Amino acid sequence: MSHRATPCGARSRRFVRVRAIRVSVALALIVALVLASCGGGDAAEVDLERLEQAFASADVALGSEVFGDSCSVCHGSDGSGGVGAALGGVDERLTVRDHLAVVWTGRGSMPPFSGILTDAEIAAVVAYQRSTFGDER
Ligand code: HEC
Repeated sequence: MSHRATPCGARSRRFVRVRAIRVSVALALIVALVLASCGGGDAAEVDLERLEQAFASADVALGSEVFGDSCSVCHGSDGSGGVGAALGGVDERLTVRDHLAVVWTGRGSMPPFSGILTDAEIAAVVAYQRSTFGDER
């Protein structure tokens, strides 16, 4: 009896060790994936290039709708701010690229809109904000 129990016990200990290694490899992969997808919180170059292309043909009328639906609750329908920053002169503070990036990734207590708004909607609302609240009219 006892001479059979020993190799059996050794096998199951080895099995447990192999499983523990597999689990930690899996955890390391998950951690790596999560870190890679967070990307430091900045809009990736590829996202910004795509958004800039969308901005080139942005639809300001669509942007006005998007602003009313998704932004005015914090920024005020006249852009004067509230929970969100006042948007007057926003086109002088932010380049188009930085403006697109703020909407894509969020900033401070502003939530990110990547995955919520389409590229066309983000481009449109940025164009709307720059033409409506910026100094260039
Ligand atoms: C939940 C509230 C909230 C919503 C909704 C929101 N924002 Fe904001 N937004 C903020 C806050 C707060 C800031 C200031 C962030 C900071 O710098 O800490 C901000 C900052 C900004 C800025 C930077 C302004 C500047 O002068 O630097 C832009 C641009 C902006 N928001 C655009 C938008 C757009 C476009 C939408 C809608 C698609 C939107 N926001 C929706 C809260 C919000």
